[in-house]
Parts: sequence; C-alpha cells; structure tokens
Amino acid sequence: MDRPLTGKIAFVTGSGRGLGCAMADKLASLGADVAIHDIDATRCQQYGEAQHIEEVAARIARHGTRVIYVLGNIGDPEAVAEMSRRITEDLGTVDILVNCAGGDIGSKGGKPNPNNALDIALEDIQVETNNNLIGTFLVSQTFVRPMRDRGEGVVINIASAAAHMGCTPEVIYSTLKAAVVHYTRCLALEMRPFGVRVNAVSPGPSKTARFQATRVTDPNKMVTNNSLDRYADPEEIADAVAFLAGPQSRFIHGQVLRVDGGLTLFPG
Ligand SMILES: NC(=O)c1ccc[n+]([C@@H]2O[C@H](COP(=O)([O-])OP(=O)(O)OC[C@H]3O[C@@H](n4cnc5c(N)ncnc54)[C@H](O)[C@@H]3O)[C@@H](O)[C@H]2O)c1
Repeated sequence: MDRPLTGKIAFVTGSGRGLGCAMADKLASLGADVAIHDIDATRCQQYGEAQHIEEVAARIARHGTRVIYVLGNIGDPEAVAEMSRRITEDLGTVDILVNCAGGDIGSKGGKPNPNNALDIALEDIQVETNNNLIGTFLVSQTFVRPMRDRGEGVVINIASAAAHMGCTPEVIYSTLKAAVVHYTRCLALEMRPFGVRVNAVSPGPSKTARFQATRVTDPNKMVTNNSLDRYADPEEIADAVAFLAGPQSRFIHGQVLRVDGGLTLFPG
C-alpha cells in the first residue's frame, strides 16, 4: 500500500506552481498518473518556481508515473473541453480531480487594490469570480459527468481558511471560497447515489512562492517546527489532499478538511 494510487489518473488544476504543484507531486509519488495544468506555460516563472511547465512536469515524472501538462483558462468552456480531450487521449479517464486553480488575484495580476467590500473594482470581482468559482463549476461539470456515468471518482475542491470567517481585506476572495465550500456540499449530495466522493480542503496561509511574494510575512511563522501557530508547508496541504484522494477516506463525503494548524477553531 505504499503506492495506493497506482492505476489512477489525476488532474490537478493550477498545478504549474504553488500548492497545486505540491499536490500533483504527492499524488504522483503515491502512484497516480498526473495531468498538471496552468493558464499558460510560463506562469511558473512569475515567482521563480520554474522556467516552463514542461520543467515542472519533468520534475514530477521522477516518481516514475506518466505526467502530461495541459494549458488554458478554467473559466473558458472551450479551453476546458480541450483539456478534457487531451487528458483522455494521452492518459485516460480522470479518476481524481483536484480543483486547485484560483487565488486572490485581480485583473492586473496581483492582489486587487483596493480589496475591501465597498471599493474593489468590478473588473477585479469578475476576474476573481472566474478564477475561483466559475472555473471550479466548469471543470467539475466536464470531469465529473464521466465519473457519475462510471459510478466512481474523487473530487477535492481547494477552498481556504478565509472561507470560514469574516475577512477584510480579501472580501470577494473569501466570499468566493465560501461558495466553493457550499458547492462542495451540493455536488456531494448530487453525487451520493453514484459513489463519486466530493470533499474540500481549506488551507491556512501556506508558504508558496506567490504567498511569500505578495505580502509582508511574519518571520516567526515562516518556520517549520512543533508550533501550530505558523504558516503551512505546501506538502502539509498536499498530504491532506492525498488522504482525501485515497482509499483511507473511502466513506468521507461532503466534508471540509481545514488544514490550518487550528487557525479557525470554531464550529461550522
Ligand atoms: N497559499 C496559500 O496560503 C493559500 C491559502 C488558502 C487557499 N489557497 C488556495 O490554494 C490554491 C493555490 O494557491 P497558491 O498559493 O498555490 O497560488 P498560486 O497563484 O501559486 O497558484 C494558483 C495557480 O492557479 C492558476 N490559475 C488561477 N486562475 C486560473 C484560471 N482562470 N485558469 C487557469 N489557471 C488559473 C495560476 O496561474 C496559478 O498557477 C488557490 O485556490 C488558493 O486560493 C492558498
């Protein structure tokens, strides 16, 4: 059971860099063939993680499973259809879908400014809604239909600790992630008779390259030690995704696993 995902095919959106990349790497290490994805081939350059997504794919392929990459905007139905066509042709039917692409990224590329409820620009609201919610809907529609028809599959939606509490700034982002949490529950209910498991992971602040480049970080929380009052290592989020993707979570459905070191210690 050291490679429990052998024979499975995983698709992780937004995995050209950051948390998605750590998740794809973890799933491959457990035996899955993996399709990685980003909006374009060089988005991984932005914070110095790689020169080209091909390099990211080659790195993950060290685990000895098949790794391909697909590109495109998850909010564009034609692009999503093309991703599905490529993955099905090159790897086969997807068993594990991780909806990871997203983030608090506005129309100009960085965090929206202003980023509060009353002043954020409409263009930023639209881009964030596309990236975090519409994309999750479209990718799920495309990749979960075949799972439903086959009567098996696993979906893991990546939400955020911000989904579970009032936030300002990051109002629109946290609202959209709360919607991702609720969509997880609705899709789980719809898929219950078909044996397609749907869950979410809500990461706390995690040390991705983008996270570190887009804010002033607290040096006391950058450490990896026994304290839980720190930022997560991406691998710690990937471990939770691997658990929900694998056989040990076979009766866990419609749940949200908050992987935040206890940042959100309240019910709901
Ligand atoms: N890093 C954190 O602290 C943290 C905390 C909670 C939740 N999250 C969530 O985890 C996920 C990954 O975050 P990250 O820190 O790795 O960020 P990241 O920016 O490094 O990675 C996100 C990836 O998604 C891609 N993407 C975004 N919108 C897209 C679109 N419309 N089409 C195609 N690709 C798109 C980006 O190009 C990027 O490669 C996001 O959903 C984010 O909201 C991150």
